[in-house]
Amino acid sequence: MAQYTIKFLPDDKVATATSEETILDAAQRTGVYVSSLCGGDMICGKCRVIVKEGQVFEEQHMLLSREEVRLGYVLACASHPRSDLVVEVPVESRMEGKQILVDEDAQRFSGLAGVDLAKYEFHHSPLTRKIYLEIPPPSLEDSLSDLSRLFRAVRAHIDAPIMQTGLKNIRRLPQILRRGNWKVTCTLGQRGGTVEVIEIEEGDTSERNYGVAVDVGTTTVVTHLIDLNASKILATDATYNSQIAFGEDVITRLIYAKEEVGGRERLHEAIVGNINMLINNTVAAADVSIQDVTCVLCAGNTTMMHFLLDLDSSNIRREPYIPAATHIAPARAIEVGIQINPRGLLYSVPGVSSYVGGDITSGVLASGIYRSPDLSMLIDVGTNGEIVIGNSEWLVCCSASAGPAFEGGEVKFGMRATHGAIEKVKVLMGGEVVETVVIANEKPRGICGSGLIDVISELRRESVIDRTAKFAEPGTCSRLRRMDDDTEFVIAYADETAIGRDIAITQPDINNLVRSKAAVYAGASVLIKSLDLKFDDLQHLYIGGGFGNYLDLPASVAIGLLPDIPLEKVKFIGNSSLSGAKLGILSQEAYEEVEKIAQKMTYIDLSSNRQFMDEYSSALFLPHTDLELFPSVS
Ligand code: FES
Repeated sequence: MAQYTIKFLPDDKVATATSEETILDAAQRTGVYVSSLCGGDMICGKCRVIVKEGQVFEEQHMLLSREEVRLGYVLACASHPRSDLVVEVPVESRMEGKQILVDEDAQRFSGLAGVDLAKYEFHHSPLTRKIYLEIPPPSLEDSLSDLSRLFRAVRAHIDAPIMQTGLKNIRRLPQILRRGNWKVTCTLGQRGGTVEVIEIEEGDTSERNYGVAVDVGTTTVVTHLIDLNASKILATDATYNSQIAFGEDVITRLIYAKEEVGGRERLHEAIVGNINMLINNTVAAADVSIQDVTCVLCAGNTTMMHFLLDLDSSNIRREPYIPAATHIAPARAIEVGIQINPRGLLYSVPGVSSYVGGDITSGVLASGIYRSPDLSMLIDVGTNGEIVIGNSEWLVCCSASAGPAFEGGEVKFGMRATHGAIEKVKVLMGGEVVETVVIANEKPRGICGSGLIDVISELRRESVIDRTAKFAEPGTCSRLRRMDDDTEFVIAYADETAIGRDIAITQPDINNLVRSKAAVYAGASVLIKSLDLKFDDLQHLYIGGGFGNYLDLPASVAIGLLPDIPLEKVKFIGNSSLSGAKLGILSQEAYEEVEKIAQKMTYIDLSSNRQFMDEYSSALFLPHTDLELFPSVS
């Protein structure tokens, strides 16, 4: 089989590829990021690259316009080399500006100042703690073994009826006790009802005990290094989840894990690598020894936790959607590959089902809805819209598959909320004038979720689209035109953009977005109706998830994504997955509470729910078929 070299610009990285392989395969292997939302299935059209030199064979598809083909664009996942190549990854297919924005997110939404446990009525009792012990040496009258002597000394400080430690510690124990002159520091971890001695050190190191709370997101991974004694956040860092190279959403990665040889291992290594890098960055920033990091608590959706823990995820996407586990006992972090103190523990926030994971139970903990008598709803808007409703007595949840449109997928010029993304849009004068706000004040290269919601709401208000989300006749305003057999509305002309082409929203884009918003609203509606309630009965509506923070509330209601309730009832709670993880790592009570929350949540599966399909069909209008549900809009 012929072998060719492919040089990727602007990274200047060189890969080799056979004629059987695609440009996308070569890019992924070489660590060159090319947007690939559908994982190479020739569906999303996001993996556009430009062949500058050389010949390719391109499989048939309809995802590029005539103009793009003329400019040398090909789909990386559909193109096989037929000679050595020079390939440019254009700006719209790259991932740029990630660090700054993710850092901004981390600071803006995750509360750097500290964790106020008292506000949540939790006591300070971190998952791992250190106790300094001055142990009476043995004598003929007091001839307990070294281990029993250590346990007795610990029990003088804390209530620990069941204690254990590993063989390695027992082997080291006699020397440490004697070398330390019977003055030692014990690191204790909780494993269910058992207190485990996870580390024994000479002398007093009890002042130095740190933990890391991690939000393992499908798109971003965020870590906070926490002083477990002082409940203080010392450093924070975030990055994109490197698994994106293997598929942008959960389903694509599940397929990759199952169908690619070594796929599961690569996904596992990618996320472990991200977490280790972030831990290293934060300990360096805070001048902390990694030896003193004694635990990590991870909150993530069920699929991400499967990849992190290297569990078999193959049944998650097949009916009846069964995960390997939703509640995983603490493990030695190093067993998973996470590098902290070699005996440090890795805890996971328990989830409910394949599609309602620990990120959501963590959000329930952080929002406090489980302990209030008020009726509250939590909506986490992302590729899946996870919805929880309840109060201190009961909690019911579901997950509506919204698709990737809000994250920029399945939308021609859609992109994530990074530099160059249009995040706010105003349409004026019947569609003749468009004003935009672009992240980092750059020339735009696409539109992110909040911008897309604005566009639909604004186009509807200006009657450029009707209630069924169909465009008016092309030419009704100068920006509305026919292009490549579709009608589209130009948001920014080529001379205003960073990509040298017009940025427009097409009819298929709008249809995808309307389907996404309909799924989220229908999910919420099914929950409300299954409990014989109305949205008006809600006393609080919490919006979680990174994307949620950028939502324009009136626009979200105007398009029928969120229910039409008084805006003062709505609260954005940011990265609630991380907030919950921070509570859990600092308080055993909070960790036990989230375990109870997971057990208490009743899951309603929407995939086979008839009412969901009815609600979904009704929600495919702007804002809805039943305008009485949206009095402020009509
Ligand atoms: S079309 Fe190539 S990755 Fe989706």
